[in-house]
Amino acid sequence: MRTNTNRTRELFQKAKQYIPYGVNSNFRYWGDDHTPIIARGAGAYVWDADDNRFIDYRLGFGPIILGHAFPAVTARVAAAIQDGVLFAATTPVEIELAERFTRMTGMEKVRISNTGTEANMHALRIARAFTGREKFIKFEGNYHGNFDYVMFSGPTAKADLLGPRQHPHRLRATEGMPVAIRNYMISLPYNDIELFERAMVEHGEELAAVIVEPIMGNAACILPDQAWLQRLRTLCDEFGAVLIFDEVKTGFRLANGGAQAYFGVRADLAAYAKAMGNGFPISAVAGRDEIMAVVEPGRVAQGGTYCGNVVAASAAAATLEILETEPVIDTIFANGQRLIDGIHAILERAGVPHTVTGVPSMFSVLLGKNEPPADYRGYCEFDAELFGLLGQELIARGVLVDDDPREPWFMSYSHDAAIVDETLNIVEDAVNAVLGPGRQAGLRLAA
Ligand SMILES: Cc1ncc(COP(=O)(O)O)c(C=O)c1O
Repeated sequence: MRTNTNRTRELFQKAKQYIPYGVNSNFRYWGDDHTPIIARGAGAYVWDADDNRFIDYRLGFGPIILGHAFPAVTARVAAAIQDGVLFAATTPVEIELAERFTRMTGMEKVRISNTGTEANMHALRIARAFTGREKFIKFEGNYHGNFDYVMFSGPTAKADLLGPRQHPHRLRATEGMPVAIRNYMISLPYNDIELFERAMVEHGEELAAVIVEPIMGNAACILPDQAWLQRLRTLCDEFGAVLIFDEVKTGFRLANGGAQAYFGVRADLAAYAKAMGNGFPISAVAGRDEIMAVVEPGRVAQGGTYCGNVVAASAAAATLEILETEPVIDTIFANGQRLIDGIHAILERAGVPHTVTGVPSMFSVLLGKNEPPADYRGYCEFDAELFGLLGQELIARGVLVDDDPREPWFMSYSHDAAIVDETLNIVEDAVNAVLGPGRQAGLRLAA
């Protein structure tokens, strides 16, 4: 139970003096009264600046697949940095990492970078160079990072501005980007085979790529329809477009082979980050040999001062070794399913219409309707405000979730059955506080 927030609020006021909104990424700002300041983490737990302990289901927006400060990863990094961290040259640990990475993912070639944004940016550039084409398809509600080409109609788009389903608008996600670059992208609703087929007939010959999040990791973990995902594959082949899977959230979290292994659909190129490094900043663009071959000095630029640095590469090498040699994903799925089943039961007992979307290692709890949404427009029909109230009750009781239902609940290898059961007791209390008998009157339930 959070008892005191004095130090947090004091530090937040100080942060605001120097940092816009007191955060170094806009998504971390939860308002002046609620923005957390986290001082440390261990395993499934984090502690805020007032030393309140929370069971953490945000896990740094997904990367912490093993647990905070996981000893084997920390030890490997601590040992490696004694010998220097950056040499502007290939290091042995990068080779070890690349060998393990390609074996686990089934990708033939890989280049290492630092963030998910970079990996997707490079994937798009490589696809354009390989095909000699410039346009691409992107799906509503998908987020591919903080670079201009892809920042249209993402998970912050307002539903009433998305335009007609048959001809969606391409909504800019931020000021400061050139309006004209919207002409390079075609926006489509997720999971709609008919509209995808129509778009391919109209534009297939001019497309460099179709880029997709194989689970909507930034919009309530909406799952792909298997036939639709397969159709992306076959039509990309037919029209010579590169199929890019953005596996930044799904990679090393759905399976060691990511969403491609989980759903049985191969991408030509994929972007990885997050779980790959258990919180250390690392990412990768990877793919078929023939396509990755365009990354050649003097032809396609890929690189950066910190790409493959010893700190991140050592962390990723240690993380992937554990993922490959221990039953990490199976354990996470078993405990995640226990949590999902418990949440279902609690919400059912409370008589609250709801659905849980996603998979046991990353899922979202949506309130107000029982049918899972198929696309971002469908997500917008759920009651985000009501989930926000529940989220704040959970946080006050020591379960740290995002109070925005678009952002998944993430599980780690450190969240064992006892921690899940402790969480469920808190969920029950929080649900009763917000939605228990006599409390639902006056709340807007969207159903
Ligand atoms: C699916 C997806 N792609 C790309 C990114 C961007 O990654 P980064 O924040 O590391 O640049 C994110 C970040 O949340 C993401 O979820």
